[in-house]
Amino acid sequence: MAGRKGWLALLLLAVGLTACGGEGGNGTEQGKADEADRAVAEGERLYMNRCMSCHGGELEGGFGPELRNVGERMSWEELVGVIRDGRNSMPAFRDRLTDDEIEAIVDWMNKQ
Ligand code: HEC
Repeated sequence: MAGRKGWLALLLLAVGLTACGGEGGNGTEQGKADEADRAVAEGERLYMNRCMSCHGGELEGGFGPELRNVGERMSWEELVGVIRDGRNSMPAFRDRLTDDEIEAIVDWMNKQ
């Protein structure tokens, strides 16, 4: 049963990789900063995939309102809430994005 051995090797490899990935943010300050940067980069990627069509590639707005400096108009909690639960024609993303993903988008938006 070579096939079965192959799967076992793959599984072990996957477990090994996951364990290594977890060590990336190993509690050092640098590790934490790297992790935060990664989350923000992920937020940008998600925005471009999910939000750009209505809010524009530069947050300039379109079908939806401009989101530049939106952090000055709305609190972090309000932003997470609008994205999670929607508002009027703004679709709710709670079934399509995890809380972590929504928070990453908000963190990225607040840095623009
Ligand atoms: C189908 C188009 C559409 C998509 C996709 C969309 N939005 Fe919106 N968004 C809107 C509209 C329209 C509004 C205005 C809602 C209202 O009138 O209350 C809005 C409002 C908002 C607001 C509140 C802005 C303000 O000034 O009050 C935020 C924040 C926001 N969207 C973020 C996002 C994010 C982040 C995503 C991607 C996860 C996203 N939107 C995806 C259409 C969209």
